Amino acid sequence: MSKTQLIIFGASGDLTARKLIPALLGAQLAGSLPENLEILGVSRSAYTDQQFRDGLREWLNDDAHIQIWDTFSEKISYISADALKPEGMNTICETVDHSAGLLFYLALKPSLFDPIVTALSEQGMLRMKPGEPVRWRRVVIEKPFGTDYESARKLNQALLTHLREDQLYRIDHYLGKETVQNILSFRFQNAIFESLWSREHVESVEISVCESVGVAGGRAAYYDGSGALRDMVQNHLMQILSLVAMEAPASMAAEAIRDEKIKVLRSLQRMTPAQVERDVVRAQYAGYLQEEGVPEGSRTETYVALRAHIHNWRWSGVPFLLRTGKRLQKKFTEVILRFRTPPVDLLNGPTDGEACALRPNALHLLIQPHEQIKMDFLVKQPGPGTMMAPATLKFDYRELQTGPTPPAYQRLLVDALNGNATLFVRGDEIEEAWQFVDAIIAAWQESPTPPHTYTPGTDPEAADGLFRGCEGIWGHGDES
Ligand code: BG6
Repeated sequence: MSKTQLIIFGASGDLTARKLIPALLGAQLAGSLPENLEILGVSRSAYTDQQFRDGLREWLNDDAHIQIWDTFSEKISYISADALKPEGMNTICETVDHSAGLLFYLALKPSLFDPIVTALSEQGMLRMKPGEPVRWRRVVIEKPFGTDYESARKLNQALLTHLREDQLYRIDHYLGKETVQNILSFRFQNAIFESLWSREHVESVEISVCESVGVAGGRAAYYDGSGALRDMVQNHLMQILSLVAMEAPASMAAEAIRDEKIKVLRSLQRMTPAQVERDVVRAQYAGYLQEEGVPEGSRTETYVALRAHIHNWRWSGVPFLLRTGKRLQKKFTEVILRFRTPPVDLLNGPTDGEACALRPNALHLLIQPHEQIKMDFLVKQPGPGTMMAPATLKFDYRELQTGPTPPAYQRLLVDALNGNATLFVRGDEIEEAWQFVDAIIAAWQESPTPPHTYTPGTDPEAADGLFRGCEGIWGHGDES
């Protein structure tokens, strides 16, 4: 029977224990793992197979996972090797089963992506030689993919000298979230919404990814060199934006979807320094400078809100209002399409109050914590006048009673093992997204204006100004 090996580089790091192993256990319970899967952890630390398994066992906190652990853990073994040294790579090469389908998962710092892929390639582990009884080879790469356009382009170039694009799986874990995937199904299987999905009817689109956590627990070293724009906007928000704004793909095949997403990213207007000054708000939470590991006087933004424009037939003139930040009031991810107000204001006479003018129709796609779809509209208040009252139609995924949705990593790992690249990011998407972000960073570097400061638990006030000319205020996520 054909065999699959998952080889995790950097296996002693916390990603393996925190995300990958629970994802694999979840997939095992769901019956979605390939049969005959073997998991090889690779890192420099000296563990035996059993010590490695015991270390992973300590992180488990789901009863169902714990119950199957003993049997499942037999699939796991460990190689102690320095993959950057020839003898280390030799050991790995000798242990791997070359007749199996091989998924190399690089849970490593980005500076190691290129050297490890080069070393794997030099050992002949990435090629399928004609006539050899081998199956497939794929490489999964974690974010961040580059730190700007130039570094991402170089990294793409370097990796693609050893791999074909279809062998390279670049992770954006937001694409593994069920409701993010549902954006496409919802749009293209429901004609009533899709026909409203354009500049004719939509006044603005909001994409908010808010977090209540700050940058504690040793994460500051990475985060301070990155900031909210690189850490969240370049990847997660750009991916959500491209799914919300893209045209219908020719099919649901990975390439067809990616071909449409890239057009959106190419149409995204690069900002001039004057636009950045007016349309981008960067801010830092009060107390950030006191977090352990944050350098004195750091201007790194922990919050960014911006008003972007997609210069194409469907969206020209519609502001895309993007917001993300740490230490905000609560954690949620939401997309809101706010529709235009009626062309004639029949009901807003001088005695009718302001209710009908103020609230446009809005469609909310709540991505987390509770997956929901909500439609806001207005109804007439009973009585002789024409005062309107807000009303909402709401669908909650929990009503489907299909049980909890699998975590993003579970879906992504299973897809990578099965060769489905739809939920992974193509190289050109990453480069385009960096070009958009780079223009903002370049303007900030020249700007004398420091980031605003905001009190944890609140949004910076300056961000409200981005709604100029549009109805609405920043959303609050699920209120229920
Ligand atoms: C990561 C960022 O990509 O996404 C983190 O590096 C952020 O800073 C995280 O906290 C948020 O992911 P999620 O799935 O918890 O919304």
